[in-house]
Amino acid sequence: MTKETPAPEKTFTLKNDQTGEEWQLPVVEGTYGPHCIDIRKLYGQTGHFTLDPSFTATGSCKSKITYIDGDEGVLMHRGYDIKELAADSTYLETCYLLLYGELPNKKELKEFTAHITNHTMVHEQIKSIYQGFRRDAHPMAIMCGVVGAMSAFYHDSLDIWDPEQRRISAHRLIAKIPTLAAMAMKYSKGQPYVYPRNDLNYTENFLHMCFSVPAEEYKLRPPVVKAMERILILHADHEQNASTSTVRLAGSSLANPMACIASGITSLWGPSHGGANQAVLEMLDQIGHKDNIPEFLERAKDKSDPFKLMGFGHRVYKNFDPRAAVMKESCDEVLAELGIDDPQLELAMELEKIALNDPYFIDRKLFPNVDFYSGIILKAMGFPTEMFTVLFAVSRTVGWISQWKEMMEEPSIKIGRPRQLYTGAPSRPYVPIEKRK
Ligand code: CMC
Repeated sequence: MTKETPAPEKTFTLKNDQTGEEWQLPVVEGTYGPHCIDIRKLYGQTGHFTLDPSFTATGSCKSKITYIDGDEGVLMHRGYDIKELAADSTYLETCYLLLYGELPNKKELKEFTAHITNHTMVHEQIKSIYQGFRRDAHPMAIMCGVVGAMSAFYHDSLDIWDPEQRRISAHRLIAKIPTLAAMAMKYSKGQPYVYPRNDLNYTENFLHMCFSVPAEEYKLRPPVVKAMERILILHADHEQNASTSTVRLAGSSLANPMACIASGITSLWGPSHGGANQAVLEMLDQIGHKDNIPEFLERAKDKSDPFKLMGFGHRVYKNFDPRAAVMKESCDEVLAELGIDDPQLELAMELEKIALNDPYFIDRKLFPNVDFYSGIILKAMGFPTEMFTVLFAVSRTVGWISQWKEMMEEPSIKIGRPRQLYTGAPSRPYVPIEKRK
């Protein structure tokens, strides 16, 4: 499953080579994973900061929610393997697990589902916010705005010190984010918004709101619903990635949960993170034909060219992305069900094959990640490319809010405030404008 972690040293000795001074730093142990050297007193004791701009070796918090073993390709939520959750669980059950730490019993699931279902509608006036956007606005731009604006509509659940209000805000976010996302899609198509239906489950309702039109009811196809459910489960949480860290940092200033989730959405948007699923399809379009693959691979290897192979590589996974394996399976099922013979998929498979045999990608342990396949499935389902990252945001909302809730439940919250290594100009006197060159 995941490799055993060796017993920790109790302390870690840090030595100043020049003065010979030594400091004992405490070592902290988790359930799995590398032990952490607790450096909270480092500055006070040594007068030094640490420098780790992209957080490649820094644990920003303790968390009980998600564990990733990047070398073994393991992803677990609350101790449950993602492959089992994707195969046997439902998205709402996974949401409950992430939020509350345990799988729900029948009664708990029924109550949770009823509560979420009863909160899927959004305030009618929210519609008018959409009208303020250009029709060709990127739906992620709309999502950044409308999710932040939710804090202007749901004042009764914004007291972050009240556990019940935190719970209601979390449920509201999980319930309303699909409605807001579907409205963004409808707005860009110039179609009327479709209201949620309480007789459908979470995933069915989302597909219904995205694809139904007054003239014709959307026919739900079980394999498509199943694939969508899996996409939602696979993206639900991923420990301290860029957007989750953004949510935690925003939350550490005691901002309200809706504002914090809006900050997560902005961070997710970039192509190095959630924006990669859109970027994969754009890249496949750009490559166009399998004969052009070698040229694009050479560009990906060229450090003077900003082009990267989108959907490849991961900060943590250095073996394989377990989400990608499930996603590939779903991709095959959906394309077969919908009878789609997609030339882009063929191109993607060829690209994957060539890249996986190329020493550049082998040496750097670059494998297809979850975004490599999700775009192809979403395209087959009929989602416009611009909606792909929005779907990621829909699913990840539960991860963000669970991480925020965990942080808020800690006995004391301290604002997140990294320090820096100043490399600017030394101190100098102010120069009046008439004396400047
Ligand atoms: N194409 C070409 N070269 C790459 C790629 C790529 N996709 N990814 C990494 N490399 C190279 C990188 O240039 C570096 O080479 P060198 O050692 O010669 O300087 C080496 O591999 C190590 O990469 P890194 O930059 O240290 O990796 P990172 O951990 O900073 O970045 C990443 C991880 C995901 C941002 C990056 O792999 C990437 O930009 N991939 C493409 C975008 C993508 O698919 N993102 C989705 C991630 S999964 C969904 C999610 O969690 O959001």
